[in-house]
Amino acid sequence: MTAGSTVSVVSNISGSAACRGNVLCVRPSPPSSMTCGTTPTPLKAPDWQSLEDVSYINHADASFGQDYMRTSEALMMPVLRTLTRTAKPILQSSVCGCQALVTQTRFIGFSPRQVPSDASFHSVSFSETDHPRVLITGGLGQLGVGLAKLLRKQYGKNNVILSDIRKPPDTVFYSGPFIYSDILDYKNLREIVVNNRISWLIHYSALLSAVGEANVPLARAVNITGLHNILDIAAEHGLRLFVPSTIGAFGPSSPRNPTPDLCIQRPRTIYGVSKVHAELMGEYYHYRYGLDFRCLRYPGIISADSQPGGGTTDYAVQIFHDAIKTGRFECNLKPDTRLPMMYIEDCLRATVEVLEAPAELLSMRTYNINAMSFTPEELTQEVQKHMPELEVVYKTDPVRQAIADSWPMNFDDSNASKDWGWKHEYDLPELVTTMLNHLNAEAVAVQAS
Ligand SMILES: NC(=O)c1ccc[n+]([C@@H]2O[C@H](COP(=O)([O-])OP(=O)(O)OC[C@H]3O[C@@H](n4cnc5c(N)ncnc54)[C@H](O)[C@@H]3O)[C@@H](O)[C@H]2O)c1
Repeated sequence: MTAGSTVSVVSNISGSAACRGNVLCVRPSPPSSMTCGTTPTPLKAPDWQSLEDVSYINHADASFGQDYMRTSEALMMPVLRTLTRTAKPILQSSVCGCQALVTQTRFIGFSPRQVPSDASFHSVSFSETDHPRVLITGGLGQLGVGLAKLLRKQYGKNNVILSDIRKPPDTVFYSGPFIYSDILDYKNLREIVVNNRISWLIHYSALLSAVGEANVPLARAVNITGLHNILDIAAEHGLRLFVPSTIGAFGPSSPRNPTPDLCIQRPRTIYGVSKVHAELMGEYYHYRYGLDFRCLRYPGIISADSQPGGGTTDYAVQIFHDAIKTGRFECNLKPDTRLPMMYIEDCLRATVEVLEAPAELLSMRTYNINAMSFTPEELTQEVQKHMPELEVVYKTDPVRQAIADSWPMNFDDSNASKDWGWKHEYDLPELVTTMLNHLNAEAVAVQAS
C-alpha cells in the first residue's frame, strides 16, 4: 500500500476482507443464526436501501476471494494478511454446509454480486435536504439544459447536476454544476450518485430514432446496456428514476389514432425497441424491488434554443430555423405525415409534474402525454400565416418516412390527465407564434452584436 493511501474498514474485524485499489473492505461476520450447527435462517430479499453503504464492495463479485485475494495478498500489509486469512475460509467454503452465508444475486451492474443476506453495515447517514438532489444524464441534448434550468429555479442551482459525455458550452458550464458521466461506465455513475447524494435521477442519454438506425450497435449499447446501469444504480441507492419514452415505442400494429397507454407495442426501430425495454424494465423493477420508476412517452418535442438530436420529428424544429434564415425549407417527410408534437415548455413541465406527483396518484408507471398533432403541410400553413413568402419543398427521406409511417398520429393521454392532472398549454398557433418570436429575437440580437 502506498503512502497516503486510505484504509476504510467497514463493519467488524471478524468478517471477511478484500482490497480494492487503496480501500480495504471488510465483510461482516455471518449472523450468529447462520453459523455452524444452527438451522439456516431463510434468506431475505436484498434491501436496496441498506445496500447503499456497501455498494462499493459489490464489484468484487465472482472473483471475490480468488483473483481479488491474490492481488490483496501480494500487496497488503501484514495486518491485512491476517484479516485475509480470517476471511478466506468464510468466503471460499460453505461453512459446515451453511450455504446461506452469502446470497448470490444477479442485480446491480454487469456481474453477479454477493451480498450477505443479513448484512447490517454501519451506515453514514446524511441529513436529508428539503430539496431533491438531481442528476440529469445526457443533459446536453435538446431537452436537458432546459429541464436543468426549470429544476434549478425550483430546487436551487446546486441541487441539479447536468452530465454528459460532450464538452458543455460556456453558457451551460457557468450556469450550474456540470459533470462528465458516461452511462456505460457503471463505477463512474455510482461514484457521482454517492458523492453528490443524488436522490432523483433523470435519464436523458439516448440515441434517437434516425441516429439509432444509422448505428444499431451503439444505440443498443447506450439505450439498453446504459439503461441497465441506470436501473441498477437507482434501485441500489433508492433513487426516484425518470426515463422518458416516446411515440417511437409503438409500431405499425399499434392503434395509431389515437394510441392509448396500453396496447400492442411492436416498434420497428432499435430506438423503439430500447424504449419498450426501458418501460418494461422500469415497471419490473418497480414491482420487484420497489424502484420509484416514472416514465412519460413524449411526442416529438419542438424547441427554439436547443437543436434536436436526430429524431424523426426534427423537421418540425428545422422548418422554423430555415424559415428565418433562408425563407426556404426542404422537408424530409411527406406533406400528409401526421405525428403528435409538443412544445418544450409543456414537455418539461409535464416531467417536473410527474416527478413531483405523490406516489399514490400514479396508477401506472408509464403515461402518454399529448399536446397537438399535425402534418408538415398544416405546420407550413401556420408558419405561412406569419411568413407568407416561406417556400417548402418535399424531399422524402425513406428511412425517416418509414419510421414516421409506423408511429402514432395522435396520443390518448387521458390517464395522465385523470391521475395527476396533466394538461398541455400550447396548441399549434401558440407554438408557431412562440417559436417565431423567439428565433426572430435571437436573429436580431445576433445581427446587433
Ligand atoms: N427530443 C424529442 O423529441 C424526444 C421525444 C421523445 C423522447 N425523447 C427522449 O428524451 C431524452 C432526451 O432527448 P434529447 O432530444 O435531449 O436527446 P439528444 O439526442 O438531443 O441528447 C441525448 C444526449 O445523450 C448523450 N449521450 C450519448 N451517449 C451517451 C453516453 N454513453 N453517456 C452519457 N450521455 C450520452 C449525448 O451526448 C446527447 O447530449 C431521450 O431519452 C429521448 O429518447 C426525446
